[in-house]
Amino acid sequence: MTVRTRMHLAAHFPGVNSTTVWTDPRSKSQIDFASFEHLARTAERGLFDFFFLAEGLRPREYKGRIHDLDVVGRPESITVLNALAAVTERLGLAATVDATFNEPYELARRLATLDHLSGGRAAWNVVTSSDAFTGENFRRGGFLDRADRYARAAEFVATARDLWDSWTPEGVARPFAHQGRHFDIAGEFGLPRSPQGQPVVIQAGDSDEGREFAAATADVVFTRRGTLDAGREFYADVKGRLATYGRSPEDLKIMPGVTVVLGDTAADARERAAEIRHRQVSPQNALLALERIWGVDLSSYDPDGPLPDIDPEPAPALARGRVRVADPLAVAERWRALSRAKGLSIRQTVIEASGRQSFVGTPETVAAELDEFVTAGAADGFILVPHLTPGGLDEFVDRVVPLLQERGAFRTEYTGTTLRSHLGLPEPVWKG
Ligand SMILES: Cc1cc2nc3c(=O)[nH]c(=O)nc-3n(C[C@H](O)[C@H](O)[C@H](O)COP(=O)(O)O)c2cc1C
Repeated sequence: MTVRTRMHLAAHFPGVNSTTVWTDPRSKSQIDFASFEHLARTAERGLFDFFFLAEGLRPREYKGRIHDLDVVGRPESITVLNALAAVTERLGLAATVDATFNEPYELARRLATLDHLSGGRAAWNVVTSSDAFTGENFRRGGFLDRADRYARAAEFVATARDLWDSWTPEGVARPFAHQGRHFDIAGEFGLPRSPQGQPVVIQAGDSDEGREFAAATADVVFTRRGTLDAGREFYADVKGRLATYGRSPEDLKIMPGVTVVLGDTAADARERAAEIRHRQVSPQNALLALERIWGVDLSSYDPDGPLPDIDPEPAPALARGRVRVADPLAVAERWRALSRAKGLSIRQTVIEASGRQSFVGTPETVAAELDEFVTAGAADGFILVPHLTPGGLDEFVDRVVPLLQERGAFRTEYTGTTLRSHLGLPEPVWKG
């Protein structure tokens, strides 16, 4: 019997974003522990590899005020994951933590603590912050250029790994010293080697520097490449970079963030997907999406009317804390052409032009498509981003996971206790 490639699955907790349909009566708090617990327990019931928390270090601002979606805020990831460690047994626990505004000793200690408390389930999603706006919150402000952020992140991860390796497997603390461009530290690390040796390292970033950093350093990549073609291109590119670093393709798992909408029939699922998208892009959100590109106040425009015929301002300045659109004029022209060609209003254009649900269908067709994605070399698995907090994965776990298992495409039980074992990653060799 041939052994099937098994996919990896992770659950993204949708807190602060525009994916969650906050107007749905089933949407609950994204701060109450009960919400985190519900989604984590669901993911563990579905035998998922890990539970994933994003990070936003400063609420986004819009027209000088905190953005509607951010008003309610989001708690600190590692604290939440430590609490979840107590109510789960096998599920990996992944925290997004910025490498620009933290220090290696402190963060290595917090992550090692999570790895100890959870029995080897910790992961660190290393992000680098895309804007100086976030940095204003910190002692040194937005103190690094984009290119330097990856240099610091690489040195940060290497230093954290040295700290984790500074105790021998027998439990003897040895002094460590690191002197580099960004850090000059020496001493003794505060914790013995943790169950995984080193927490799993995840990378999320799409640029050339990001991909190189992932190839050199990461165990998992979280990407937005959610279509088959884009996924294959990204997969081949990133896996192709591994050999330079003496690594093999299995050493790095590529997991796009995707959405799933299920229905009893294909038509039913399509209808639900359209309805969800419609609710995600409310009239207010539609104007907001437009203003982010145009860079000017468009609040007098009717979301059900035509797109503005004025051109965008060269440097959009209304939103702070969002990644900038690289070429607003080109996007505006594309959107206007789409709107003209199909006779779409502002809201309809935003719905059509911006993200759509990745997998839409019956549990059977979705299971088959997810499987195909993995066998076609477009991903090693998926980070599922539900549109409901916290019940948005219940249906997937109840209806799709059993079908994936029947196909041999997903595990039927946890065979190990650590996140590394779920991901099929080797124990890191202790660099004595
Ligand atoms: C799928 C994905 C998820 C991300 N999640 C976060 C996040 O939760 N918090 C954060 O500060 N940055 C996040 N980022 C931003 C990246 O870490 C990075 O700073 C940004 O993408 C700029 O780097 P790049 O030019 O290499 O893409 C994410 C990026 C991607 C692609």
